[in-house]
Amino acid sequence: MPDNRLSNSTIIAAYRERTPRSAELAKEAQALLPSGISHDGRFTDPYGIYVERAAGPRKWDVDGNEYVDYYGGHGALLLGHNHPRVLAAMQAALAQGTHFGANHPNEVRWAELVTRLVPSAERVRFTSSGTEATLMALRLARAFTGKPKILRFFTHFHGWHDHMTAGHASHFDGTPTTGVLAEIAANAVLLPPGDVAALRAALAQHDDIAAAILEPTGSSFGAVPHRRDFVEALREETAKRGILLVFDEVVTGFRVSPGGAQGEFGVTPDLTALAKILAGGLPGGAVCGRKDILDELDFAVAAMKGREKIAHPGTYNANPVSAAAGRAALEIVGASDACRQANARAAELRARLNEVLAEERVPWAVYGSFSGFHTFLNPQGRAIAPEGFDPLGLDWRELISGSKPLAQKFRLALLVNGVDVNGRLSGFLSATHGTAELDATVAAFRAALAMLRAEGELPRA
Ligand SMILES: Cc1ncc(COP(=O)(O)O)c(C=O)c1O
Repeated sequence: MPDNRLSNSTIIAAYRERTPRSAELAKEAQALLPSGISHDGRFTDPYGIYVERAAGPRKWDVDGNEYVDYYGGHGALLLGHNHPRVLAAMQAALAQGTHFGANHPNEVRWAELVTRLVPSAERVRFTSSGTEATLMALRLARAFTGKPKILRFFTHFHGWHDHMTAGHASHFDGTPTTGVLAEIAANAVLLPPGDVAALRAALAQHDDIAAAILEPTGSSFGAVPHRRDFVEALREETAKRGILLVFDEVVTGFRVSPGGAQGEFGVTPDLTALAKILAGGLPGGAVCGRKDILDELDFAVAAMKGREKIAHPGTYNANPVSAAAGRAALEIVGASDACRQANARAAELRARLNEVLAEERVPWAVYGSFSGFHTFLNPQGRAIAPEGFDPLGLDWRELISGSKPLAQKFRLALLVNGVDVNGRLSGFLSATHGTAELDATVAAFRAALAMLRAEGELPRA
């Protein structure tokens, strides 16, 4: 049944008005791609923008509209779009060939940078994506410990492979999501995030856990945050029991700090999954960690121990162009204050957006940590002061709930006003987001709230 809130919306009408060429492409795409898209996160009702070009913190759609970009390549672009040094490295690599079917010098330099920056990285194995990195991390953990189960936390995302689907956005009871075998889903021990008592109880109950995996600053880059001491407790409890600790630093790696969340927190996991910034905005991932664990991939060590190694091919592992981009990006991250700059800009943006909410008397909040921000739409109508909002005081269910039509309208209203955030009204800042982008975002945020208010979606100010 059509939702009147959406079909009669002047926001949606304004969006359609501004984006006719995107609408045409979306119509064509519907006949070619399921839902017309290539990543679930890009699903937008009525349709998403089609982007033609990007530079630094901005991008332009096929209708010529300019946006301040907070999608940030799904988090991959700490240095912004087309950083000149990363671009030059990619162009030089392209000119030399895109695939040698052989080892190449840049993969060695790239791995060296990873081991220099990431505290847990004694050895590195490159993959083509973050999903592959967490898949290999779990396989390594099972091979190393001889145990089957994986401890995971509700809402934490680790890619889309079979071990990771239940309990991320649905199936919090651990039942398998569509297309996944029940036997695989049954090997996850799913726990509420940030709950040390639940963690200790689960560990007392299960002696067959190979590894615990988490997003170290909380799920979706802190949309559901946990306290830092939860990570410390997890490290302590897993170490006591010989359970491997895996940090999924696909987002936080080289972003929170040059050494990722582990560098920032001073907590060293046994294994780390990396992607995104790792490959400078191109496809690429890696699992890194303790040598004795990564040795499960080593021909000589396996032969010496008389055991079967873990097989790991992958056509695009350490692809030369990704390696060149990744090497350039990590050199910049390691030698500059890019992480700190992005973190500081994000803190400033969160504060300024909360000021707008307070001024406009909207009982929402913008929160987050490091270079991220999230918008809390306050589905239960709590009395909150935006600036003082503490997400740690709320249950994870409340943080991920909220009116989808309201969020959708707000997102489209932001797009109409030249700002692109993701479907959860969250965003990533890069080191290229400056005062001009923040000013434009604050103005767009205020204008988008006015559009919502005009449609009766917000209380009168
Ligand atoms: C924390 C986290 N882990 C893993 C992944 C999966 O990475 P990829 O999309 O490269 O497969 C993502 C992707 O967004 C992620 O955010």
